[in-house]
Amino acid sequence: MRVTKILLGTFLAGVVFAVGVAGLCAQSRKPSTGGRAPKTAEQVYKNIQVLQGVPADQLIPAMQFITASLGVQCDFCHLENAFEKDDKETKQTARKMIRMMFAINKDNFDDHREVTCYACHRGAHKPVITPVLNEEEAELVSEDKMHHEKASTASLPSADQILGKYLLAVGGADAAARLSTRIQKGTLTVGSEPFPVEILAKAPDKRVTTVHFPGGDSVIGVNGQEGWVSTPGRPVHEMSPSEVDAAIMDAELLFPASLKQTFKAWRVERPERIKGRGAYVLSGTRESLPTVQLYFDQQSGLLVRALHFVETPLGCNPTEIDYADYREGGGLKTPFRWTVARSNGRVTIQIEQMEQNVPIDDDKFVKPAVPASTESQPGPS
Ligand code: HEC
Ligand code: HEC
Repeated sequence: MRVTKILLGTFLAGVVFAVGVAGLCAQSRKPSTGGRAPKTAEQVYKNIQVLQGVPADQLIPAMQFITASLGVQCDFCHLENAFEKDDKETKQTARKMIRMMFAINKDNFDDHREVTCYACHRGAHKPVITPVLNEEEAELVSEDKMHHEKASTASLPSADQILGKYLLAVGGADAAARLSTRIQKGTLTVGSEPFPVEILAKAPDKRVTTVHFPGGDSVIGVNGQEGWVSTPGRPVHEMSPSEVDAAIMDAELLFPASLKQTFKAWRVERPERIKGRGAYVLSGTRESLPTVQLYFDQQSGLLVRALHFVETPLGCNPTEIDYADYREGGGLKTPFRWTVARSNGRVTIQIEQMEQNVPIDDDKFVKPAVPASTESQPGPS
């Protein structure tokens, strides 16, 4: 099932596709392990030399970060189904590079992860090491400069004002607070292929998405504590703590009433333009988790974009969700279309039918049993 694999990859994987996200994903010191000591990469995989001590569930996300940073696929360094082998020179070079990156940060940046693969590679397997004179590239650089020269944020509305306007725009705090569940049906498009999709959501942080593929259902679920992915013919994959954090946040973003409390602190950033329209940008921070950026349309006040990150030992994998097609229902405005973009692709979900505040039983959000033998073996899915 090639497509299922792509979808799974697209949902879980993720890597750098955006420019200008530097600094947003500060390295978090405390890995959220949910209490138990996680297995390390070398306990789970066969030939780990430089990433020893890294939690095993961060190895694949780290590989995805590398892939996106260099603009390559896994087979650039690996033989198919023999990831432990060192036959390719590029894999050996990558090991040296990882060592180099750790050393640069240790020796020059107080061990903070400031330099990453992407800092040099910028999506190419051979970094550009000589200044370029062609115009497109030059424009990119000067655009960055302009951002820095933009006026201060002093004249901007406060975070409270922006969040308040958003609540009003969707229908008001009361209507938002009454929202307890949502059942949505529509189409999920990967590439140009559409598949039926069904989403069950329960406030504040439970959501199960089922995609009906010809070969069987793919399910992605999160219930406030745990997250999982199941695809036909494969064992249930348990999300890593940082994947769970990201999935919970995705779910929470669609319940406007609790949005403000989802984050510990808010900061107003410089405004940006999205598809020609002005947007206020709010950074939300939560304890020891990467920053999340939310974009609100300046005119309508609605949430139009969320940008968040999954931490890996080498850098952060960003995900961008664009919300559109807001429609009124039950006194609330809800986005009927959203696109989830990662460096390795994007999926669009278009909702066609929606019901709200219909009771949904909690056992719809119970994680299916994970076979013991695969529990801590996050394979290269
Ligand atoms: C630029 C080279 C490069 C790319 C691209 C790359 N890897 Fe790796 N991979 C490595 C290196 C280097 C190691 C060994 C790390 C170490 O020694 O600590 C590794 C180790 C692994 C391992 C552990 C194998 C074992 O049993 O020891 C797996 C699994 C893996 N990679 C999967 C992937 C997947 C999946 C992708 C694509 C998403 C990928 N890699 C892309 C360089 C790469
Ligand atoms: C400080 C800058 C810098 C950083 C950081 C960096 N690289 Fe490199 N990398 C280079 C340069 C420069 C080359 C090209 C060397 C050459 O042309 O022979 C290179 C080459 C490579 C190659 C060989 C590519 C080929 O086509 O043979 C691989 C693989 C690679 N880097 C992986 C990584 C990975 C993985 C990371 C992050 C862990 C990383 N690099 C971080 C500068 C960097």
